Amino acid sequence: MTIRIMGTGSYLPENIVTNDDLARIMDTSDEWIASRTGIRARHLVKEETTAQMSAEAAKKALDEAGMKAEDLDLIIVGTLSGDYVTPSTACEVQAILGAEKAVAFDINAACSGFMFAMNTAYAYIHSGIYQNALVIGAETLSKLMDWNDRSTCVLFGDGAGAAVVRADKTGLIHFTQGADGSKGMVLSCRGRMNNNPLVKNFVKPDYVSMDGQEVYKFAVSTVPASIQKVLEEADLEVTDIKYFLLHQANIRIIQSVAKRLKADMNKFPTTLEHCGNISAGSVPILLDEVHKKGMLQRGDKLVMAGFGAGLTWSAAVMEW
Ligand code: UT7
Repeated sequence: MTIRIMGTGSYLPENIVTNDDLARIMDTSDEWIASRTGIRARHLVKEETTAQMSAEAAKKALDEAGMKAEDLDLIIVGTLSGDYVTPSTACEVQAILGAEKAVAFDINAACSGFMFAMNTAYAYIHSGIYQNALVIGAETLSKLMDWNDRSTCVLFGDGAGAAVVRADKTGLIHFTQGADGSKGMVLSCRGRMNNNPLVKNFVKPDYVSMDGQEVYKFAVSTVPASIQKVLEEADLEVTDIKYFLLHQANIRIIQSVAKRLKADMNKFPTTLEHCGNISAGSVPILLDEVHKKGMLQRGDKLVMAGFGAGLTWSAAVMEW
């Protein structure tokens, strides 16, 4: 028994910020951002919260799956930018949806968050503990940015994507995931200050900081290797795959992965032009866009891959 995606949904904040908008408030340009990354705009929250965006995406996924919130046994949200340290975003979503029966918790695996959440749902469902799960990737990264650091703040966006999965004979075929905590500091965000009056060495809170080139090198080697691994395990070739849905960090990373796999770039749909990098949100938002454009037929084989802070990575091959 495996898991099959029965419905998808996504939510992007209404507020769109273009590269030119950013160039008006910092020393950057559309030319620099677009040529280095492929990003031209991103959606940034004004009022929306991570939980609200997640719930909106979830409602669409539930509708498509023909399921009610009460049918859910499990809600997992991949996020590093929940509205609170606690309660978790998943518990907030459970309350908004009224999914009273569902167990709910978050997973922090940064840009691999949705994929790690999906694999966790698979483990529960495969073992027979649960039947129906809601898996979400959602971020409000704009509140974690150092808006004085042009090398990071121009890259990221906000939004949420969701998938309803349930036990089925076909669906997720193979999965690989990994982590390397020894390289964690190449992409980090230090949290709250220790304001314990008994402690003198206060740790200064911080925003997202990144050694972009180290992350780039990690991505262009790890992502093709993990995709090749799942394909081998599934006994499939690159040519059997209709689409490769990659974490949307940088068009140059996606082009490099396509080249290493000897796959045509038109098998790599993207959202990064209008979304930027939404960390855990990027793969499910991309999946929803591809699906809603009518690009998927039941039986198509897909690869999804996430990579990022932790460091973490993951790849899955599935039948739609
Ligand atoms: O989801 C997490 C995964 N994250 C990633 O996958 C990120 C991977 N890394 C990257 O995508 C790229 O490394 C970046 C897009 C982040 C940066 O591209 P780069 O080609 O590695 O640029 P760089 O950091 O080497 O910077 C080149 C120049 C520097 O100026 P100097 O020192 O050469 O004078 C930067 O100060 O570009 C400058 N720069 C900018 N200029 C205009 C950095 N940010 C900006 C900016 N606008 N926003």
